Amino acid sequence: MIVRVRFLPDDVTVDAEVGEALLDVADRAGVSIPTGCLMGSCHACTVELEDGDIIRACITAVPAGREELTINLFSDPTW
Ligand code: FES
Repeated sequence: MIVRVRFLPDDVTVDAEVGEALLDVADRAGVSIPTGCLMGSCHACTVELEDGDIIRACITAVPAGREELTINLFSDPTW
């Protein structure tokens, strides 16, 4: 199952597999999500989904059940 993942604000779209790590998808898209601990505790990798859900990219995989996923990277430099 392929999910089309779109990264904002760069507006880059790549195809990803359900269950693929979001950081890997971003990497393939040439989008860099800031990271720190890679364990879900520092929140450096926080991004927002199109439905307003705030998630930590390092502990999130591409979800099943949708064909498209839009990920909004925070541009706030304090993250
Ligand atoms: S890198 Fe620390 S919470 Fe994701």
